[in-house]
Formats: sequence, structure tokens, C-alpha cells
Amino acid sequence: MPEEKDPTQEVTTALNAFAQEFQRFDVSGRGDLSLKTAEAELEALRDLRTKHLGKKSAIAASKKLIGRVPADERAAFGQLVQQTESSITQSISDAEAALKSIIEKARTARESIDVTIPGRRPRQGHLHPITLMRQRIEEIFVSLGYAVEDDREIETDFYNFDALNIPEGHPARDPQDTFYTTEGFALRSQTSTVQIHAMQRRGAPVRMIAPGRVFRRDTPDPTHNPMFFQVEGLCVDRGITMAHLKGTLAEFVHRLFGPETRTRFRPSYFPFTEPSAEVDYSCFNCGGDGCRICKSSGWIELGGSGMVHPNVLRAANVDPEDFTGFAFGLGIDRTCARIYQLDDIRLLFENDVRFLEQFR
Ligand code: FA5
Repeated sequence: MPEEKDPTQEVTTALNAFAQEFQRFDVSGRGDLSLKTAEAELEALRDLRTKHLGKKSAIAASKKLIGRVPADERAAFGQLVQQTESSITQSISDAEAALKSIIEKARTARESIDVTIPGRRPRQGHLHPITLMRQRIEEIFVSLGYAVEDDREIETDFYNFDALNIPEGHPARDPQDTFYTTEGFALRSQTSTVQIHAMQRRGAPVRMIAPGRVFRRDTPDPTHNPMFFQVEGLCVDRGITMAHLKGTLAEFVHRLFGPETRTRFRPSYFPFTEPSAEVDYSCFNCGGDGCRICKSSGWIELGGSGMVHPNVLRAANVDPEDFTGFAFGLGIDRTCARIYQLDDIRLLFENDVRFLEQFR
């Protein structure tokens, strides 16, 4: 017959076994545990709880013995088992709480933000000088009662040439030679195309400006680009004369460069205006005395202008017997280059950030 085990001894052995294994979980004074170690220890503690308090633990087995010990020892034994179980439970719970606190602190430290670290500033963009120039021009004409039209850059021959009184074979097509597609479209070589669209859309009277990109087969040099910006102006109404054209452009340069700025109209030729004139303004830098900016002439070219040709009005279904108008076309790039004193308009398209950053 196997020897009967002493139940009290069994409980003491169970407690000693637990105490030995539990030693390593005493984390008091070990607040420096890494998050990873503390998490692993918590996991191991859960296993320890199962081992010493679970269904298959020595304590569970001792509980089953309570009924079998002699009646006069039962109460004392029962108390011993209970105390041992409570003591193990308490030790595990304390260690668990300590580990959880270490984990919590470590996680908070990992996720906390150091508000004293300087932030990473996003690089702030700014408008391109051509855009700044275009906006200044728009503001002036809008305040003079002009609408701003935005129109297509790809055109048919009709709008780029025919409707502007430049029939096929006309020599005026040559200096404005542009880029053609195989489908018979062309990149517009001047914003004058918008004159026709605007009159077709709005009829007469009409007062509008149309800033936009144009394209020509020009070889790049300090004053030429194959792509550049113009702003077209058109004013059609009853009784419009050359005096209105001169007054409008004089007012424009006053507002752009200052009230002392003078204008000069030189006779010229454009197929879509008659009479036509090139417009110059007195140099904003030297006031007309001659300097580096105006190349010693005292004058700077603004663009072309004139009275809208009757054929153009007709092409846009406006009766030239009833209406007259003036139009002008200014080069934004060259004006921009003058104002910012750039020697070469190609700088405006090289998009070198070191250059562009100057226009903040
Ligand atoms: C015209 O394009 C006419 N459509 C202007 C016009 C409109 C006249 C309405 C009458 C009535 P022109 O070819 O001169 O005109 O060009 C006008 C302006 O565009 C020039 O003064 C110049 O500032 C600019 N320009 C012309 N070619 C280039 C180029 N390759 N690069 C940069 N700017 C240019």
C-alpha cells in the first residue's frame, strides 16, 4: 500500500515551489525594465498563475483533500489551504500590477511628443513672376470695367488667321508661323484669337481682356521664346474711337508704372486693325532720359494696338456700320522682364528655384 502523503506537507511544498519560481517576478526597484521585457514577463506571469492556481495545480489538489483529513484537523487544514491560495494570488496580482504600470509608463514615454523639438517647416511656394505680372494687369483692367476671358490654346486656322483678316497665302502668316497638328489644328500664335470667340459669345458691345499662352516658331534669345504670354484687350461699342484706345492704354501705364508715365503710338501694321500702332511707354526707371533698362532710348515697347478692322467684326457677326472698337495685345514676358530688370526672358522659363525665389 502506498504511503499516505501528509496533506499539510503537500501545501507547504506547493507554497515553496511557488515562492522559488516567483522570485524573478519581484519587480520592485526594476522600473528600468524595457517595454519588451516587461511585456514578456507579464505573459510569463500568466503562465505561473495557471500553473500554481489552475485546475491542475497542487493547491487545487490540496483543496480536494480537505474532506479527507480527520475531522478535528479539517478546519485548520482548510484554513491553511485557503491562506496559501490567497497568498499566491496576492503575490501574482501585485507583480501583475507592477508590470502593467511599467508597461504603461514605457508606452506613454514612447508615444509622447516633445513639444520643444523645432517642427519641420514645409517649404512654402509662391507665385511665378509671370503670374504676378498677369494678376497686376488683370486687376487694372477689371477696375476699368473689363471682363477677363480665358480661352483655348489650340486653334483652327479660322480663328488664328482667317477671322483675323489674314487669309491663306497672306505674308502676315509668316512671322506668326506656329506649331501645327496633323488634324489641321494649330497652337495659337497670338491671343487675338479670343477677340473672335468673345464677340461670337457675347456679341457687341463687349469689353474684355484675355491673358494667355501663345506659341511661335521663334528661336529663343534674350527677348524671344517659342512660348510666351500675351494679354489681349478688346473694346467694341458704338462710337469707339482711337482716342478711347489711347486714353485706356495711357491709364493702364499710369496705374502700372506711375502717373508720370507717358505713352507713344507709332504707326504700324496688323491685318486685324486699321489704323494700327505700336505702343511704347516712357521708361519707368529713367523717366525717358535713357538708361540701361530702356537701352538708352527712353521708351519701352508695350505691344501692338489699333482699331478693329471691319472684316474682323464681320467674321464675328458684329455689324461694322453699327459698332467700332479698339484692340491691343501686350507681351507679358517682356514687360515682366523690364519691371524686374531681367536681361533675358528665358530665365522666366528655366524654372531655376534659386532665381524664382527672389520673387516671393
Ligand atoms: C501681336 O501678337 C498682335 N496680336 C498684337 C495686337 C493685338 C495688335 C490687337 C493689334 C491689336 P506682336 O507680334 O507684335 O503683336 O506681339 C505682341 C507682343 O508680344 C510684343 O510686343 C512682345 O512683347 C510679345 N512677343 C512677341 N513675340 C515674342 C516672343 N517670341 N517672345 C516673347 N514675347 C514676344
